[in-house]
Parts: sequence; structure tokens; C-alpha cells
Amino acid sequence: SIHPVVLCGGSGTRLWPLSRKALPKQFAPLIDGKSLLQLTLERLRELNPAICCVASEDHRFLVQEALDNAKVTGRQVLEPMARNTAAAMAVAALLADADDLLLFAPADHHIPDAALFAQTVRSGVAAALAGNIVTFGVVPSFPSTAYGYIESGAPLADDVAGCTVMRFVEKPTADVAQGLLLKGGYLWNAGIFLVQARTLIEALRQHAPDILAACQQATAAPSTDGSFVRLNRDAFEACRSESIDYAVLEKHKQIAVIPFAGAWSDVGSWNAVANLYPADDAGNRLNGMAMALDARNTFVHAPLRPVVALGTEDLIIVDTQDAVLVASASHAEQVKDVVAMLNREG
Ligand code: GDD
Ligand code: MG
Repeated sequence: SIHPVVLCGGSGTRLWPLSRKALPKQFAPLIDGKSLLQLTLERLRELNPAICCVASEDHRFLVQEALDNAKVTGRQVLEPMARNTAAAMAVAALLADADDLLLFAPADHHIPDAALFAQTVRSGVAAALAGNIVTFGVVPSFPSTAYGYIESGAPLADDVAGCTVMRFVEKPTADVAQGLLLKGGYLWNAGIFLVQARTLIEALRQHAPDILAACQQATAAPSTDGSFVRLNRDAFEACRSESIDYAVLEKHKQIAVIPFAGAWSDVGSWNAVANLYPADDAGNRLNGMAMALDARNTFVHAPLRPVVALGTEDLIIVDTQDAVLVASASHAEQVKDVVAMLNREG
């Protein structure tokens, strides 16, 4: 069977003020009062209701709440500090049985068609059992610099769905991204990986032996407390912080890709959140208690109290308990700079 592992440790600064240090975006109620993590768990439940979450020690109660709400039986591997996705995936693989087929999924993506998602994942099982790291590819729509790009090659063997990956390019510059789109044959990496524990561990041994060694030490004598599994703090702290994409995928030979045909969003900016809501005739997208009059292309997130946009155009308005964002729609990507500014000014 497939063992889902949800990576819950990101900080998502581009959705400030909804996403905060104490409440990163995967935990914030975003769609019909549900968090992206809860929706992710509900989607994965179709594959296996026993789900492992790798999360920060600080967020264990938020993760537990999502596990309970999604009615899944989870265990949590708790990180004493964030060491990025290579380490998070390494510890999960080391704590699993070598033969286990692991499905690594981000906690913060929106994939509305759960049935198609499950079917696509299942179609990758043969490729994963044949020793590939199986990625899932999304047809790119613009030269984004926020994604990995996968060059898809020849089909795998007759009875194995998927194609080989010729090249993996993580977060290219705008120029390079433009070039890859013009060249064609590239897919965006959806950030979801199906792989046997032993395959991932072998790949880490080849390309990032220091990360593997640190994670082996960190998991050598895990302390288990109910459904929580804790790592060795000093060993994990000493681990290099790098994403799996740079640490392994850009270098590894045996990668396969399966196209995912459904809607997929990594909900990476307020424009992406806005697109989750239907637009009215004037292009406004209103959520919660938001209202608009003579406004155009205005997104208002107002879960707490009435917020009215009057005569506005191309605007993002986000109201939360203790902070408000008013931004030009063209500046959605710069929200992370606001967070940097606020951090500097304490
Ligand atoms: N447990 C844990 N610990 N989880 C983490 C950590 C960590 O230290 N760092 C990140 N994560 C989680 C995030 O919460 C997210 O769910 C997932 O791992 C991916 O991390 P991101 O930081 O969001 O990666 P990204 O969006 O920049 O890039 C990845 O995803 C893209 C698709 O959205 C890459 O795989 C790209 O190639 C890909 O296109
Ligand atoms: Mg992401």
C-alpha cells in the first residue's frame, strides 16, 4: 500500500497577514473554513487513512487538530528546527520500512479533484517499485521562477506508466524559465513524490551523504510519545538545510514523471488564493463578509467583519484580527518583502 507523508514545515510568507510565524499558511482557514493541511489530509485519506506528518515541534497541536478534523489516524515526526525538505524526507524514509512506498505531499497545495489525484498517484506505483523517484508534472502556463521544471523523456517500459526525466531544473531564473517554455517538453514539478524508502535513501547516499548521515543519527534512537516521534536534537541541528530538489532531484538519474491533468495550485500568492473563489461580472472575488460596489478586479478576504471595497480596481484587501494588507494586485509576489521589512523593524 501507499504510505502518505505530509511535509508540514514551511512558513509561507507570501500570504501575510493570514500566514504568520505562529500560524503558517497550511494551518490557516482558507477554503470554506478548512485549512489547506486539512484538505490535503482529506485528499490523501482516499489512498490510505494512516498518514505521517513531518512537522515542527511548535506546530504539533495545529497538525493534530487537522488530523482529527480530517478523520485520519496520523503520527507526527517532530522536527526541533526546520532543516528543509531533504532532511524532512530523509527522516521519514529512515523511520519507515525500507520496502515502504512513500507518497510525499506538500501540506499547502490545492488540488480539488481528489479522485483524479488518487488515480494519478496509483498509476505511478509500478514506476516507483522499479526504483524510480516518481514526480508528478503539471503543464506550465507561464515562466514561473517559483517551481522546478521537468524535461520529460521517453516512456518507461511497456507495462510501467510514466516517462523518464531527462533533466530537472529547480527554480530557474526568469530568462531560463522563458527559454525552457519556448523549447517545450517541460512540465512544472508539482512537489509530490512517490518513492520507495530504500530508493530515496540510496539517492541521498549518492548525492547528499552528509544529510543522510545527520538524519541517520537524528533517527537512531527516536523517542516515541503517543503518536509523536521526536528526533535527536543535536544531530538534526547539525544537518545541512537544503531542499530535496537541489539536493537530489537536480542530480539524480533515475527519476520518472507522470503528468497530472487536474487543477493544481500551490497557493503561493494572494492572486492564487483569489483564483480559488469565483469572480463576479466585474472580476471581483469576495470571501467571507466582503462586499464591493463599483469595484473591479478586487479581491477581499474578510472572515471576521464586513469589509467594503468602493470604486477600487486591481486591489487585494486582506483583513485579519490584528493586521490588514492592502496591495495592488500586481504586487502580490512582493508580500514576502513586507514580511522581511516587518521582521527588520521588530
Ligand atoms: N517538515 C518540513 N520541514 N516541511 C517543510 C520544510 C521543513 O523544513 N520546508 C518546507 N516544508 C514543506 C512545505 O510546508 C511545503 O509543504 C513543502 O515542504 C514544499 O516546500 P516549499 O518551501 O513550499 O517548496 P517550494 O514551493 O519552494 O518548491 C517546491 O514545490 C514546488 C511546487 O509547489 C519544489 O519541489 C519545486 O520544485 C516545486 O515546483
Ligand atoms: Mg511551496
